[in-house]
Amino acid sequence: MSILSEFNPDQLDPMETASIDELRHHQLQRLQWSVKHAYDNVPMYKQRLDSLNLHPDDIQSLDDIAKLPFTTKSDLRDNYPYGMFATPLNQVVRLHASSGTTGKPTVVGYTQNDIDNWANIVARSIRAAGGRKGDILHNAYGYGLFTGGLGAHYGAERLGCTVIPMSGGQTEKQVRLIKDFQPDIIMVTPSYMLNLLDEMERQGVNPLDLKLRLGIFGAEPWTLELRRSVEERAGIRAMDIYGLSEIMGPGVAMECAETQDGPTVWEDHFYPEIIDPNTGEVLPDGEMGELVFTSLSKEALPMIRYRTRDLTRLLPGTARRMRRIDKITGRSDDMMIIRGVNVFPTQIEEEVIKVNHFSENYEIHLYRNGNMDVMEVHVELRPECAQFDEQKTLAAINALRHHVKSSVGISINVKLRDVGDISRSEGKAKRVFDNRFTG
Ligand code: DLL
Repeated sequence: MSILSEFNPDQLDPMETASIDELRHHQLQRLQWSVKHAYDNVPMYKQRLDSLNLHPDDIQSLDDIAKLPFTTKSDLRDNYPYGMFATPLNQVVRLHASSGTTGKPTVVGYTQNDIDNWANIVARSIRAAGGRKGDILHNAYGYGLFTGGLGAHYGAERLGCTVIPMSGGQTEKQVRLIKDFQPDIIMVTPSYMLNLLDEMERQGVNPLDLKLRLGIFGAEPWTLELRRSVEERAGIRAMDIYGLSEIMGPGVAMECAETQDGPTVWEDHFYPEIIDPNTGEVLPDGEMGELVFTSLSKEALPMIRYRTRDLTRLLPGTARRMRRIDKITGRSDDMMIIRGVNVFPTQIEEEVIKVNHFSENYEIHLYRNGNMDVMEVHVELRPECAQFDEQKTLAAINALRHHVKSSVGISINVKLRDVGDISRSEGKAKRVFDNRFTG
């Protein structure tokens, strides 16, 4: 069985229409290949399996995957930069790296087959979202070490789109080009899309007059409330694309146009599991936990049970037979514990957007007051509400405090910033500013 998937822009991939039995059979074969490939070529995997008295031949069913050890981000850091590559460097045609806010970045590598598969999978994703050969696609994911820009680019070309390789930043110019080039599709982080919409307003461009019909948004958590707001403001359909560098980049999972009900995991290439983040126990489909992936076709950097730290659940297939993931609640690293209550930024986002008078931009500032954690949510009025009198403004602030109290269970302070004052994202938004441990 060849490693390489095929792509035909005019029809669904055979694996997108395969029966569950065919899919599971394919996955088991690929899993056996992937585990053996990792064991034979990555010293860390050989040591880990040996120490558990496990051999790749012990993987006889998909359930046997639970016998395998997990891989974490620190494994990649410990083996920085190339220690987890399973092919010689002269077969690695591309590197990407995560920014890594602390310490070493994580480095990922791709063989030519990996790059081809990635392009096919992203092409499949754009098509699933409603993109077609011949569409003009404005790509505002950052090019460079981040996987977003080039990952989307190769996939869009493979589908047969005309790609505008804009990258992130230069917001004013982005809007001018969108107006001039009239793309059908935009690929960008949802938070940068908000920035672009604000800039359109500033330049007097009505997004509803543009040809844009589809946005493919991901790389950061975003809520259904934000989707509704962006769809309405931009007059487009907003589809969710999920991925992470360690497993490939964008396109590990993609929401399908037929149902728009959460990203379908491309299970023929990535085997998903949900585990209890504390015990590592595999949880049944439908239960919330940490998403774990095993790569089934990657040559340069096979990943066995990689712990993503993303919290979600697996849902049954709808538009495809492959399973879906629910909206990512957040990363376990992003969870804030406020006076004993676990809170994710997305929960605050939901409530901010529900108060119609506030823009979708917000920041969460955390402080300590004695022994108490204090959450201060910074918001802005929408430009059209900027002239609100004190009473109306106060009512909006109180509405937000009330919503957060009743749905999240914590009391917050709200700080109103001037319109446009909250810093705008050009890629992944930074929402949380934790000042609790900085004196
Ligand atoms: O963000 C890859 C990507 C690029 C995906 C463009 C989609 C579009 P990393 O920089 O390695 O890779 O970050 C991966 O971003 O573990 C999630 O926490 C988060 N993430 C990515 N997509 C989504 C999404 C890219 N659709 C990390 N919803 C992941 C929520 C997402 N979180």
